[in-house]
Amino acid sequence: MKSIIISIGGSVILSEEVDVSFFKELASLLKKFSKQYKIFVIVGGGNVARKYIKLGRDLRFDEKVLDSIGIYVTRVNAKILTNIIEESNKDIPCTTDEAIEKDKPIVIMGGTTPGHSTDMVGAELAEKTGADLFIIATNVDGIYDKDPNKYSDAKQLKEVKIDQLIESYGTKWKSAGKNIVIDGPALGIIKRAKLVTYVVNGKRLDQLEKALTDQSFDGTKITI
Ligand code: UTP
Repeated sequence: MKSIIISIGGSVILSEEVDVSFFKELASLLKKFSKQYKIFVIVGGGNVARKYIKLGRDLRFDEKVLDSIGIYVTRVNAKILTNIIEESNKDIPCTTDEAIEKDKPIVIMGGTTPGHSTDMVGAELAEKTGADLFIIATNVDGIYDKDPNKYSDAKQLKEVKIDQLIESYGTKWKSAGKNIVIDGPALGIIKRAKLVTYVVNGKRLDQLEKALTDQSFDGTKITI
């Protein structure tokens, strides 16, 4: 069975308000697609991770410790999601190889090792499983020419070349809790493995579904 990888931002699944109906709708969308594809979902840490990382940084913790704090939070978020999806693993894998070994239609995990974000975990899984599609479900409508949360005149890019993203952001990991749309190490894998990658607003489940079915969606396609 072909696989689809969805890297979903922590801020998508948990914003200021707890939204139970969003969880239920996301769960039923994943369930629907798991009949056709093996689905891997990698959950990010969002604002909760960033708050803990800020606290640790203020306390002068080492960068690797800050990353590992972030990883724990991603796994807590993954644990929440697995528990509302019956057909998923209940133990959270710590590596992509462990995730691949799980015999479940939907496999959910968080981070793995320091030095990157969960986007890179998704890209690694997509490369290892030869996935049909890698979706980055974030909290904005795709990739913009500048940060849309800061600039009201930011323009959405319908398509962007991977080389252009690498030129702007590089392929190196910057620092724990950095809020960027895709991390550098993930960009390196997308290019190397020629992954079909779409960036979509994960809160807009209608658009996520369109991206999953390769219909035109409100977001960004990364071209190789
Ligand atoms: P995220 O993947 O959530 O990073 O991991 P993010 O870019 O802040 O993503 P959003 O906001 O959820 O979309 C949170 C932090 O955990 C550490 C990193 O420090 C990262 O910034 N982390 C996560 C790792 O070191 N390794 C991992 O595999 C995952």
